[in-house]
Amino acid sequence: MTADRAALLDSFRRAFGRPAQLVAEAPGRVNLIGEHTDYNEGHVLPLAVDRTVAVAAAPREGGVRAIALDCGEEDAFPPDGVMPASGGGWRNYVRGVAWALGEAGCRPRGLDLAFTGDVPAGAGLSSSAALEVALAAAFAAASDLSLDRRELALLAQRAENGFVGVQCGIMDQLAAVFGQEDHALLIDCRSLEIEPLPLPLEERGAAIVVVDSAVRRSLSDSAYNERRRECGEAAAALGAPALRDVSAETLEARRSELPEALYRRARHVATEEARVAAAAGALRRGDLEALGRLLYESHQSLRDDFEVSCPETDLLVALAAGVEGVLGARLTGAGFGGCTVNLLRQEAAAAFQRQVVDAYRERTGLPAQMHLVRAAGGLRVGDA
Ligand code: GLA
Repeated sequence: MTADRAALLDSFRRAFGRPAQLVAEAPGRVNLIGEHTDYNEGHVLPLAVDRTVAVAAAPREGGVRAIALDCGEEDAFPPDGVMPASGGGWRNYVRGVAWALGEAGCRPRGLDLAFTGDVPAGAGLSSSAALEVALAAAFAAASDLSLDRRELALLAQRAENGFVGVQCGIMDQLAAVFGQEDHALLIDCRSLEIEPLPLPLEERGAAIVVVDSAVRRSLSDSAYNERRRECGEAAAALGAPALRDVSAETLEARRSELPEALYRRARHVATEEARVAAAAGALRRGDLEALGRLLYESHQSLRDDFEVSCPETDLLVALAAGVEGVLGARLTGAGFGGCTVNLLRQEAAAAFQRQVVDAYRERTGLPAQMHLVRAAGGLRVGDA
């Protein structure tokens, strides 16, 4: 557990005047490669990271009472007929999961719950999916609902799609549920099959570093939904069930059938699918140099074809490329600001801090943060 379990249980007891009965804990994730492919039913290659959100809970008669310990805020709502909270934010993740359970025909019980975590919020490490997955597990366990792990991931996604209003794919939730220590997960987002691939970082003297650009686009949710819509339109125009089914060759042959913007969106997805397959091959061979080159190529495609980068994340990648010992870098997550993922040799870490993070802060005035992450295990649920 990376969230502070003893402090969580103590806070729960003080807030509700009784002990918690169970704890559900889920990690954040970083995506190595396979960006904006999940909702096109393609492949992704994320890893769960060693930062988690932990939810302590105990069933009660009546409604749900929730406390976000890290910001000291509270919420209360009836488990039936859940309505969105006016302020939005974390409350709608809690309410959204209760709502999604109801939509799935499961009646959640009333619950006292408190949560804490060390996944930096809004930093592109999917703290929201970690919270939703941990909440889904807590609600299910407290209500004696037997949902399997895949169903928990789908339920968390449903909360995000149907209640929070972000039309996200399934990558973040599956990574939070199924993460494995020292492995990345090759996920087929159509069949939901998962193949864990060894990530030989330590033994190869390598590291993965996430840099938060500190750029937040207020319109990021609507821009994300717009990309998703464009992909759907491109697939429909080509008569394909999803863009995953359109290879780069087919796309070139039928280029004239698509408006230029949709063609470029589809080209990103087709070439990214090929890069994910190549990256999986590189991992199977333990070839981190090849993996790094694919990260740079993915960034170019996200910048030029999918157009989800911004000058700040482009700058972070350019600065990283200038550091001796950096193998690859790219925008990771939804984009429109957010984070980069960087693959580097361990001995390059100090130079990376200076030449990327410090230099970026000087050039932009933005408080970039760097997080060294390790591939960690997924969802855990147990007695308090
Ligand atoms: C966000 C979404 C994911 C995925 C990525 C882009 O993280 O939650 O489902 O679409 O963006 O790859």
